[in-house]
Amino acid sequence: MQNSISQIQPESAVRDRMHRPLRDLRISVIDRCNYRCPYCMPADVYGDGHEYLPRSHWLTPGEIKRLASIFVQLGASKLRLTGGEPLLRRDILEIVEGLAGLQGVEDLALTTNASRLAVLARDLKSAGLRRVTVSLDSLDDPVFKQMNGNRGDVATVLGGIDAALAAGFDPVKVNVMVQRGINDHTVLDLLEHFRDTGVIVRFIEYMDVGSLNGWQPEQVIPSAELLAKISERWPVEPVSQNYRGEVAQRYQYADGRGEIGFISSVSAPFCGDCHRARISADGTVYTCLFANEGKNLRDPLRAGASDAEMVGLLQSIWRSRGDRYSEIRGKIPAVEARVEMYRMGG
Ligand code: GTP
Ligand code: 5AD
Ligand code: SF4
Ligand code: SF4
Repeated sequence: MQNSISQIQPESAVRDRMHRPLRDLRISVIDRCNYRCPYCMPADVYGDGHEYLPRSHWLTPGEIKRLASIFVQLGASKLRLTGGEPLLRRDILEIVEGLAGLQGVEDLALTTNASRLAVLARDLKSAGLRRVTVSLDSLDDPVFKQMNGNRGDVATVLGGIDAALAAGFDPVKVNVMVQRGINDHTVLDLLEHFRDTGVIVRFIEYMDVGSLNGWQPEQVIPSAELLAKISERWPVEPVSQNYRGEVAQRYQYADGRGEIGFISSVSAPFCGDCHRARISADGTVYTCLFANEGKNLRDPLRAGASDAEMVGLLQSIWRSRGDRYSEIRGKIPAVEARVEMYRMGG
């Protein structure tokens, strides 16, 4: 079942400076990960001694539910749990259960590296999770290992995907981040594997998120180039959006063997329709993936702010939002201190 997000907005719904509503809340539940993807948490920076958020700073399942309910009052109806690696949180099922029970939530998804998905898929489904998206950059083990800091193997991830399908998640999506010269030679094999399985593969252009990955424009493979390469093997045709502001451009194989997608935030930015807010594990809200700062929501929450006060605070944050980083990339001076993606959530 694919999600179609309703356009009905609650009374306290807000618009930002570019008239964009808030529809989508991405909740990072943990700033830790068991992988060390060099483009996200390079092993030389995130070694044994690295100091992560203290657990006392993590929002509890109850606080996550409360904050999400406030975002619902602002117009959010689509929720996604992210990390770090969200399945490393021992209370992840309680978090999912809380969110699944919220009125006004029409979609509840989770992004994972699938290292623990085989064990958790059924319980996540029973807890009320609707959809799962798995990050998997290559089916070639050495390439995959190179891209995850030698921490994960392909068989485990495929086992997690199978478990998600067996548990009834539909659709399961696979996100592939493509870096020129690193995994681009393995994309056709990956597509071959998932054709006809119902799994939707989406290719993400490598982005300059955070400030640690040494991003260079030459490392980006524009989606148009990838699409041309794929079309030579299997003709594809465009499919219309599932909902306004969907980040992926969808295509289907002309022979009916399934759907693929492209997330082209470098070559074709989609800020104009960006309805996403993000909160980190410690309850900081960010209005853009490329933000260098956010606003602390945990302190007012823990100090006993009422729903009306929290709604007011978030309305003022969203109303002053003018973010459109991907549209102005390269035209503004680089900011060194951008928040890292594993911290803010993808
Ligand atoms: P669906 O709910 O299935 O449509 O998922 P989604 O399209 O929201 O995609 P997902 O959460 O899987 O996001 C995939 C990737 O797209 C993320 O990991 C990011 O790399 C990128 N992405 C998502 N949202 C944004 C955004 O607001 N800005 C930018 N620049 N990239 C984004
Ligand atoms: N550019 C594009 N995608 C990225 N991801 C992590 N860092 C980047 C980046 N710099 C992707 C991961 C995963 C998802 C959560 O975000 O590969 O698929
Ligand atoms: Fe972990 Fe995902 Fe970052 Fe890789 S990209 S280190 S799997 S959070
Ligand atoms: Fe939204 Fe910022 Fe991404 Fe643009 S760059 S789509 S404003 S999160």
